[in-house]
Amino acid sequence: MKTIEDLQVAGQRVFVRADLNVPLSGGEITDDGRIRAVAPTIAKLVQAGARVVVASHLGRPKGEPDPQFSLAPVAVRLGEILGVPVAFATDTVGESAKATVAALADGEVTLLENLRFNAGETAKDDAERGAFADELAALADVYVGDGFGAVHRKHASVYDLPARLPHAVGDLIATEVGVLKRLTDEVARPYVVVLGGSKVSDKVGVIDNLLGKADRILIGGGMAFTFLAAQGHEVGTSLLQKDQIPTVLEYLERAKANGVEFVIPVDAVVSGGFPDLKTKAPVEDRRVVDADKIPADALGLDIGPKSGELFASRIADAGTVFWNGPMGVFEHPAFADGTKAVAGALLDSDAFTVVGGGDSAAAVRILGFDETEFGHISTGGGASLEYLEGKTLPGLAALEG
Ligand code: 3PG
Repeated sequence: MKTIEDLQVAGQRVFVRADLNVPLSGGEITDDGRIRAVAPTIAKLVQAGARVVVASHLGRPKGEPDPQFSLAPVAVRLGEILGVPVAFATDTVGESAKATVAALADGEVTLLENLRFNAGETAKDDAERGAFADELAALADVYVGDGFGAVHRKHASVYDLPARLPHAVGDLIATEVGVLKRLTDEVARPYVVVLGGSKVSDKVGVIDNLLGKADRILIGGGMAFTFLAAQGHEVGTSLLQKDQIPTVLEYLERAKANGVEFVIPVDAVVSGGFPDLKTKAPVEDRRVVDADKIPADALGLDIGPKSGELFASRIADAGTVFWNGPMGVFEHPAFADGTKAVAGALLDSDAFTVVGGGDSAAAVRILGFDETEFGHISTGGGASLEYLEGKTLPGLAALEG
């Protein structure tokens, strides 16, 4: 793959496909990690005298403008981080974008509005996607792919646009891929994988692949309840994907055969209902119960303290840890302890630690951990999982050619 240094960028309009899909609450950015992660690439292009056209998606609008998914607050934050003004185009390929790009002087930056306000960005139909990519290509002379979190998407700006312009990989993607290579090619053992988040179905591919590679797989988060149910436990009103039970049973069997240790919670923090994440009001009926004694009316919202200790003990001597997905509803203080226990265990170990995924990366920062103390905090959730599944990622394949 070519890098930015291989491109002629001075005086050129350089299209940077970033992943600025940050969490927002009431129009406020709650975690700016993705903006900070791509800022050095943009700053480098500014320094080199490029006219930088940054583009990204945010959320999942339905192919038309939707103000709640506007990138306008991101333009402001990006400008603060870069220390230069960022001109915001209120559309992606329309009059505003054309005028804003045309007005750029060397070393100036613009951010286009959300790419997914155009149906062509995510279209399944190659011609529709291609037509949108043609319009984007008209705004630039060269392309830098640096939206690691979106490289698993076959979208116009990720997959079709690089084929239309001289292109290179940005520094963020280069770093991310370097780290993931370390997890696949030259992993230091024991290799411990911690998976959380709500759904087993989001993780089946990666578990399938890791059963041949990891030494231990620790399961927390909402998905743990499907594992507990597969082992014959009552899980009350906790999240349960019944249709995944046969897959889970097969994984547990294969793990045994391959000598992979599966670690499942031994206790859980439960409540009668979902907590209020806005007010963060105290939860009166918060209880810790053993995993084989979850009452029929209880909703599991975090792994319990014994599980936190158990997980920490299985992480302590690791050579490498990959962690994706929070252990519980960390956004509420009553259910954040499990996620804190895992984050703390990663920091206490001497392992090469990789935190993958939007949610777990945001959790680490929101819970107040020092992100520089982890080996690597990835900006890609789905992207890093699909890389570890061994899949070909369209956005990386497009940069290779
Ligand atoms: C992410 O948040 O994982 C990336 O920004 C990709 O977003 P998407 O899942 O909506 O394509």
